[in-house]
Amino acid sequence: MNANLKGTVTLVTGAGTGIGAAISRTLAGQGAAVVLVGRRLAQLEDVAAQIRARGGSASVFAADISHRARAALAVDHAISEFGRLDIVVNNAGVMLIGPVADAPDGEWERMIDVNLKGALYITQAAIPHLQKSAGAGPRQVADIVNISSTAGRVARPGTAVYNLTKFGINAFSEALRQELQPQRVRVGVIEPGNVDTDLASHTRPELLESVRSQINSIERLTPEDIADAVAYMVGRPRRVAVNEMLVRAADQSW
Ligand SMILES: NC(=O)c1ccc[n+]([C@@H]2O[C@H](COP(=O)([O-])OP(=O)(O)OC[C@H]3O[C@@H](n4cnc5c(N)ncnc54)[C@H](OP(=O)(O)O)[C@@H]3O)[C@@H](O)[C@H]2O)c1
Repeated sequence: MNANLKGTVTLVTGAGTGIGAAISRTLAGQGAAVVLVGRRLAQLEDVAAQIRARGGSASVFAADISHRARAALAVDHAISEFGRLDIVVNNAGVMLIGPVADAPDGEWERMIDVNLKGALYITQAAIPHLQKSAGAGPRQVADIVNISSTAGRVARPGTAVYNLTKFGINAFSEALRQELQPQRVRVGVIEPGNVDTDLASHTRPELLESVRSQINSIERLTPEDIADAVAYMVGRPRRVAVNEMLVRAADQSW
């Protein structure tokens, strides 16, 4: 075990699957106690069991983070279980794509509620604890890592509202970085390219074929590739702030 994060506590949203599960396993492997947050308890328990089987420490909290009170309770859970909070990874997200003109009722609201509001609620509840840890933690620094997307850098037809949420999280991250910089709470954003997860599984059936043909045309990133980027970001010494990482699949032109 690389014990870089020994004595620290990390909260990861969307931790039961895909990128969030990989981030949780990777940071736990570096010594962080990890609080896994998501809606499906069975998936969270499964990842927690994998972490414990490797000698790590994990606790789960089932919550829909688009509800402000539940998001705050997830942060409270981290404090009551482990007594502190050093790192927050806002990873939970949904991608519901298709042209604006055809969007069914509820898709935009779901993306905005999870990708934006969920991250905001978790962040606000976590800030006082992160500020405290930055002052008196094992690393003397705390981190917020927001999982954005290449879709937060390049807008395309068919993904307008997903783009809106990811451009939004980038803007929020930069403003928050400036607000929290005096207290050594670093804010970073990671923009993954195409990663092999279930993210596209909620795509409307009539759009699935075009999504599949794009996905199948390249060698996709693995969730662990993104977890490595998070570990690099939070593993820097306190004098270093890596604020942004764009990580595309090497095959990916878009
Ligand atoms: N895969 C890619 O190619 C790619 C590329 C760029 C960026 N990203 C971003 O990476 C992040 C993770 O996605 P992924 O690819 O790993 O897909 P994923 O496996 O579908 O993960 C999404 C996670 O978000 C959680 N989630 C969704 N709604 C939630 C809610 N209301 N409250 C709490 N948790 C919620 C899900 O858990 P529950 O359903 O159990 O709640 C799930 O664990 C997302 O922000 C996505 O936009 C992915």
